Formats: sequence, structure tokens, C-alpha cells
Amino acid sequence: MVLHGPNLNLLGRREPEVYGSMTLDEINARLVALGKELGVEVVCRQSNHEGQLVDWLHRAAEEAAAVVLNPGALTHYGYSLRDAVAAVPVPVVEVHLSNIHAREPFRRRSVIAPVAAGQITGLGVHSYLLGLRAAVALTREGRSRGRQD
Ligand code: DQA
Repeated sequence: MVLHGPNLNLLGRREPEVYGSMTLDEINARLVALGKELGVEVVCRQSNHEGQLVDWLHRAAEEAAAVVLNPGALTHYGYSLRDAVAAVPVPVVEVHLSNIHAREPFRRRSVIAPVAAGQITGLGVHSYLLGLRAAVALTREGRSRGRQD
């Protein structure tokens, strides 16, 4: 399952100098194509609402082997999203198009990262594609977190 958070529906039009010119549909198409290559089904969802993302994460426990999550601005303050990530037993890989560590100070902290399997940031669409590869690899190794546990 791939989850996109707030404002990512505007990709392509939204600050293209920061987030690039690809639309969300184009990113999703790349993810589905990579999923086919890797032999996994990819389901992509986007919401501007934290509660909806929380609900989908809960469902991921039953419906998905792993999650690739771009939490958008909720990355920096979304505590209920963080708790949902911590609650699901499948690996959740946090991804960002822009390099959050090279931007405004408020973006440098992720409340999601400590409970995610790992974080991939700053590589544009490749953050998502690498995130999907990592999620599949962790699932196949039977690991829910990035570290050895
Ligand atoms: C983002 C980075 C966030 O800080 C921002 O609020 C976003 C997108 C990224 O993909 O670079 O909406 O998650």
C-alpha cells in the first residue's frame, strides 16, 4: 500500500521547483509498473485528512504486506499518524520527494521516522521507487523494522 498525505494531490502544479513536475498519477503509474516487475500488487491512496490516513494504516495490517508513506506536512507534527505507524505490524517506509533535512528548520524533524522502518528523502520519484523496493525486501526477509530486531 502506498499512502500519500496532504497536498500531494497537487503535485505537478505545486511548487515544481521543490517537488518536481511529475503529477501524483504519474508517480503512482511508476510505482505500479515497478510493483509488476517485483511481483507485488501496488495500491495507491491519497488523502488531505490525517484521520483517513490513520484508517488506511489500520487496514494495512490486514490488507497489505508493507506500506510506503509520504506523510506530507504531517511528517512534522502528526502524532496520531505516528501512533498508527507504530501500531501496525507491517513495515512502513517513510519517503519524501524533497530533502527535508536541507529545508526550513520545522521540516527537519520527523515524528514518523522513529517508528518507521526507515526514511528515504530528497530523491524525487526515486524516493518512492526505492521505498517500494525497500518495503518489498523487508517483507520478504520477514522484518517489520529497518533495523535488525
Ligand atoms: C514532503 C515534505 C514535507 O515537508 C511537505 O510538507 C510535503 C511534501 C516531500 O515529499 O518532500 O507536503 O513530504
